[in-house]
Amino acid sequence: MLQTIKKIGVMTSGGDSPGMNAAVRSVVRTCAFHNVECFGIYRGYEGMIDGDFVKMDARSVKGIINKGGTILKSARSQEFRTKKGRQKAFNQLTKAGIDAFVVIGGDGSFTGAMIFNQEFNFPVMGIPGTIDNDIFGTTHTLGYDTALNTVVDVIDKIRDTASSHNRLFFIEVMGRDVGHIALNVGVGAGAEEILIPEEDLGLDRLLESLRRSKQSGKSSSIVVVAEGDKIGKNVFELKDYVDQNLSEYEVRVSVLGHMQRGGSPSCFDRVLASRMGVKAVESLIVGKSNFMVGLKNDIMELTPFDQAVKGKSKINMELLRVSDIMSI
Ligand code: F6P
Repeated sequence: MLQTIKKIGVMTSGGDSPGMNAAVRSVVRTCAFHNVECFGIYRGYEGMIDGDFVKMDARSVKGIINKGGTILKSARSQEFRTKKGRQKAFNQLTKAGIDAFVVIGGDGSFTGAMIFNQEFNFPVMGIPGTIDNDIFGTTHTLGYDTALNTVVDVIDKIRDTASSHNRLFFIEVMGRDVGHIALNVGVGAGAEEILIPEEDLGLDRLLESLRRSKQSGKSSSIVVVAEGDKIGKNVFELKDYVDQNLSEYEVRVSVLGHMQRGGSPSCFDRVLASRMGVKAVESLIVGKSNFMVGLKNDIMELTPFDQAVKGKSKINMELLRVSDIMSI
């Protein structure tokens, strides 16, 4: 018997990303379109445990499609990792009459939703919201495109000063333990080297490449380093190492940090968010559960949570080769 979904919760969880607000807007408005009540859940699973809910309608989400961050706030909940915490959350949802929820977040958030569904048979749907683009089942996670554009713009600015002072810059970017951001912004900003976890360039090859750049007449260099890179030295240690072994360069470091998570979402991310919100709500309404909505060949597809959380999106090896050729 198809359970009739009458009230859907929506929440943002884990590291925030540009486009989350656009996705919240889409979920709320798709619910309104289908005459389903929608409740915002503040602060992710933490707020679910506290019963921190707010009824939302089409007007509640006006003017947010272009806003970075998330009006529903986000959090990482230790208590939800416990059965007792999930039971509290279930009791709160039941008390509010909410009979399904959409979680906008990363793999950790989906793992929580998957376990919750198994324990309470509660309908859940996931929208991949993280700048890392590290989730299996979608070519783009929400916020990834915006983060790429933000970082490329910053690297262009750093290159102005690097070339003015004939300096080498190590620029650390986010991405947790994958190199999608580093690889794409490295190619997009014309970096001389890109260090990513998926390929261990090694210190000797790095020095060799930098020497070659210098010999080819490059007066300054940009090396993009993924925060998860495993070369064995963090960016400050890399600076010291190059200082000691490559006197041709004056070296500086920029760690971009959390500014990569902010900013107004790109048009791509706004459209992606709008499409994902519709797909997530309409999948719940027809009785589907325990899936992540994803973009595959420009089509909205569903991937079972257990595959989405287990898999990792692969690095584009062709792009890696392009970056090697471009840095000749
Ligand atoms: O997952 C998104 C992300 O920005 C990663 O790229 C980064 O490693 C992590 O979150 C930082 O986490 P926090 O916001 O808790 O410092």
